[in-house]
Amino acid sequence: MSEPTDGAVTIPHLLEKKSRGEKIVALTAYDFPTALILDESGVDIVLVGDSLGMVVLGYENTIPVTMDEMIHHTKAVARAVRRALVVGDMPYFSFHQTEELTIANASRFLKEAGAKAIKIEGASKRRLRLIEALVEAEIPVMGHVGLTPQSIHHLGQFKVRGKEPEEARRICADAQNLERAGVFAVILECIPQDLAERVTAKLKVPTIGIGAGPHCDGQILVFHDLVGYSTGYIPKFVRRYADLQEVISQAVRKYAEDVKAGAFPDEKHSYHRKKRSQR
Ligand code: KIV
Repeated sequence: MSEPTDGAVTIPHLLEKKSRGEKIVALTAYDFPTALILDESGVDIVLVGDSLGMVVLGYENTIPVTMDEMIHHTKAVARAVRRALVVGDMPYFSFHQTEELTIANASRFLKEAGAKAIKIEGASKRRLRLIEALVEAEIPVMGHVGLTPQSIHHLGQFKVRGKEPEEARRICADAQNLERAGVFAVILECIPQDLAERVTAKLKVPTIGIGAGPHCDGQILVFHDLVGYSTGYIPKFVRRYADLQEVISQAVRKYAEDVKAGAFPDEKHSYHRKKRSQR
């Protein structure tokens, strides 16, 4: 069974895809119309990433993103999605206090927003215990290792992780520990492709790569990067499949020109009163 029978992608389907060698397709979305297009195009996982903060809310990094912002956007995405697995991303400081608060925050994604799972960055000992508690509370968890953008102030800058043997060993051990803690998939972000291949071979759960080469079980990109609708730095691993920025700015410039010239609205785009003879 390669396609979900009732139409919806489930966690067992993702595990099955790995064992059959079928690639998993994942993308981010933060709003209803985008999520609708992604779902109808057959994307398996729609992640409402905290990249929301940088991509559509204009923050400098992902640190300021709040739970309420994540829930607001996850609700819009979940309203659109019928088939894909919707995953909500735990923002910075939503899982750094008590276990109770972490579970309460994570459960909002499922109970209020309609997501099917959550994602959490990192694999420290404390993080692993939290993940076990979340799984115990019936909240499916996706892990995330390699470059973890919420650690920006520790890391100093976004750069490839795991180039040195010691860090590579740690990333591999982190991914294995996440699997033991009960995650159903692991995001591998910005690591050398041979390291991603090694991790993928060691894990039973699927790896989803972003800047981690072709050997992962699936791939994810930020939707706005894929369609050329993002501002700022575009990482080397992004392939742009469209240039929406150009398409939109051409449309807006043409609209402005037409308004200024009195060419919009014209007869066709205006309402008319009924003529007496038509009554
Ligand atoms: O926040 C996000 O969009 C992510 C993906 C890039 C994996 O974490």
